[in-house]
Amino acid sequence: MDKLIIHGGSRLVGTVEISGAKNSALPLLSATILSSGVHTITNVPKLKDIETFLILLEHLGTKVDIENDGTTVKLDSSSADKQDAPYELVKTMRASILVLGPLLARYGKASVSMPGGCAIGERPVDLHLTALEKMGAKVEIEHGYIKVECKKLKGAHIYFDTPTVTGTENIMMAATLADGETVIENAALEPEVAELASALKSMGAKIEGAGTEMLTITGVRDLKPLNFKVMPDRIEAGTFMVASAMTKGNVLIKDCPIETLDVVCEKLRAAGAVIEIEEEGVRVKGDWPITSVDIKTNPYPGFPTDMQAQMTAMMSIGSGLSVISETIFENRFMHIGELKRMGADISVDGRNAIVRGVRGLSGAPLMATDLRASASLILAGLVADGVTEISRVYHLDRGYAAIEKKLSALGADIKRISQ
Ligand code: EPZ
Repeated sequence: MDKLIIHGGSRLVGTVEISGAKNSALPLLSATILSSGVHTITNVPKLKDIETFLILLEHLGTKVDIENDGTTVKLDSSSADKQDAPYELVKTMRASILVLGPLLARYGKASVSMPGGCAIGERPVDLHLTALEKMGAKVEIEHGYIKVECKKLKGAHIYFDTPTVTGTENIMMAATLADGETVIENAALEPEVAELASALKSMGAKIEGAGTEMLTITGVRDLKPLNFKVMPDRIEAGTFMVASAMTKGNVLIKDCPIETLDVVCEKLRAAGAVIEIEEEGVRVKGDWPITSVDIKTNPYPGFPTDMQAQMTAMMSIGSGLSVISETIFENRFMHIGELKRMGADISVDGRNAIVRGVRGLSGAPLMATDLRASASLILAGLVADGVTEISRVYHLDRGYAAIEKKLSALGADIKRISQ
């Protein structure tokens, strides 16, 4: 198991390039199940989760070729003929649930291991399954597998009680080949959902309302192969913005999808960061004292839950008191125990964390628990006094492509050691 060793105190200065968005690449890869042929997806991030998803697609019979140092993926789904996603693969990556809708739409049946919970919460998929039932699917859960069957899905009017990103994506993909019209109300508004809609339309799907909470999909007989470039990762970009703001840095972020980060920019500016749009990208400058601001996570366009842990780290060295409310997941404060080992003064009360800023943090041996918590611990290590050692960085590798290389290129003293 690898570890990261960080000597805190360096200011981050320089230019960083943002990789493709994990949470867009995953549904785009799944969309290739919908049509037989050779698909090409570029700007794919080199991440563990992507690797796992490609193994799953190969298991389903798709031929996968990686080019261009891993960022271009060619997929030939013409001989794909299996419809099962086994436990061994799904247990390491919940996003495997994204193959359910496409497999059912393409083959009329699918068997996908029920994604367990994960560190941040139970992560139910009831909304996905209820929607598929409304479209005529028979849904059974047996021996830990979701088994769905339906000769031909039919259009339905779906209302999601709560906006679900992968739920919206699953049903949108399934509806592209259904009989008739499907309306999805209270659809998730995350940019990755709109990107998937654009990709499906480029394959010949009939979708109205992309980017709004009401999607109308009219089924077609079949779809063409996908040829698409993944958008930059707004959460990776946001993470580097916080890193520069926390370390009194001056970082130019290239390929920064700034138009998807309004609320994050608003909070960072309120905390004292300077954010300027330049020709080449977005420049973020930081200084101390950092003003403490309150954060409340919400579905897009609200403050993203995937940026909460990073902001908690920043507020731990704020000048006052900050209330962080996590409204999306029930257990997404696991970074807090580790931050407190570095001297942070945070108390958790249910879905709220009360963060009293301290003058500084001290380096300590830490353990990563989930993807964004890992990022939060790195940020804290960058500003801590002394050495911070972070174990279980496999969590980090699921969602950040070589973050330690990008950070050391900006002047951070951070190394990865393999145990
Ligand atoms: C997606 O997860 C992202 N993953 C998550 O990113 C992100 O945190 C999350 O959306 C919220 O933005 C991918 O896109 C692969 P949801 P998803 O369904 O789709 C409840 C990261 O760090 N819900 O939008 O699983 C659920 O419990 C990861 O990159 C149900 O109750 O999240 C949660 O409270 C972590 N029933 C809320 O909806 C369901 O059937 C939003 O979850 C589905 C969801």
